[in-house]
Amino acid sequence: MPEKFTVRADHRACHAVPAIPAATGASPAIVADALARPLQDLRISLTDRCNFRCVYCMPEEFFNADYAFLPRDALLNFEEITRIARIFVGHGVRKIRLTGGEPLLRKHLENLIEMLAQLRTPDGRELDLALTTNGSLLAQKAQSLRDAGLKRLTVSLDSLDDSTFRRMNGVDFPVAQVLRGLDAARAAGFGPIKLNMVVKRGTNDQEIVPMARHFKGTPFIPRFIEYMDVGASNDWRMDEVVPSSEVVRRIAEHMPLEAVESNHPGETAERWRYLDGGGEIGVISSVTQSFCRDCIRARLSTEGVLYTCLFAASGHDLRTLMRGGKTDQEIAAAVAGLWQVRADRYSELRSAKTGGAAAPTRKIEMSYIGG
Ligand code: GTP
Ligand code: 5AD
Ligand code: SF4
Ligand code: SF4
Repeated sequence: MPEKFTVRADHRACHAVPAIPAATGASPAIVADALARPLQDLRISLTDRCNFRCVYCMPEEFFNADYAFLPRDALLNFEEITRIARIFVGHGVRKIRLTGGEPLLRKHLENLIEMLAQLRTPDGRELDLALTTNGSLLAQKAQSLRDAGLKRLTVSLDSLDDSTFRRMNGVDFPVAQVLRGLDAARAAGFGPIKLNMVVKRGTNDQEIVPMARHFKGTPFIPRFIEYMDVGASNDWRMDEVVPSSEVVRRIAEHMPLEAVESNHPGETAERWRYLDGGGEIGVISSVTQSFCRDCIRARLSTEGVLYTCLFAASGHDLRTLMRGGKTDQEIAAAVAGLWQVRADRYSELRSAKTGGAAAPTRKIEMSYIGG
């Protein structure tokens, strides 16, 4: 078997859902995992494809013409996605984040957003419906996403310097087009828009302060993300991680900051605000300060495999249950059973065992499992 194929197979490892508990007839209750963490956040990957080849996520050497992306019929359709989402909402999910790959590549995405926007929590509330995008198609799409009912947008933006940006996205894409997308998102009425910058030492760390300065006093919230050892293709090294403590120190030397209370337990970002009232920034420190203790996130891959951790080596195939004629109640019971035994805390264990270095496990690519 060619080596590439073996690697891909590893990255998509999944196994069947364990035996489904007998249906009780009762409506599903809020479920907590083995570490008492509730299930509140569902991240759904809409495609494993992307028009970028970011060096830390889908490096061109690995995701090239030989890479076998999922075939069309493997993808969950919009009815299937909405059905699973409804089941998760019944279990306590309040936030749904659409990811990829690049979710704006999914055709007729607005139709799915309309369907998801109609879901209500058991106590009748609307969902927090969010989407993470690379921004390349946002100038064309922002208004229709908003009109369809999308509540929040997060845009990846690794540099304001055009040559650094072009190099990092791997396809020579100009930063000006993403900035036009940000303007369009604002004009379409999206509220504070978070900007995700993955910081890689020696690649874009010189862009930390310019990024902070550029968006100070605007409705955009830059978030500086520690480069993670996710997947197996990015050749991750600890010495390329810039600890969040250093990010905060470097910004605060120019623009003084103070820490802000988190919005809610389980938030990935630590918040900081400018002392002069110029708004806030965030840092996401999954390498140097893991946040597994409050992790309330489940991930659904493009083909309907449920992963209970970003670093999981395998997942649980919900698509087969759906296409095999199981009822909502049976699938709900299966999901509850899977969540109840969940004990994942990869980042915490990595820090404890290795002081940061990646643990030698097989890992799923982030473009497949959802960012
Ligand atoms: P809000 O909904 O605004 O709270 O955003 P979020 O924190 O869900 O943000 P987003 O989806 O933008 O996530 C930001 C980044 O944090 C991701 O791209 C990952 O790099 C990292 N991240 C998100 N969730 C997890 C997680 O469960 N584990 C780890 N280790 N990293 C995560
Ligand atoms: N480390 C940290 N974040 C990553 N992302 C993708 N790969 C990595 C990585 N190796 C996240 C970024 C990006 C989102 C789509 O996925 O935050 O904005
Ligand atoms: Fe595409 Fe986002 Fe991954 Fe970059 S980080 S390759 S934009 S999915
Ligand atoms: Fe959650 Fe796994 Fe990330 Fe820890 S490493 S925060 S358990 S997804």
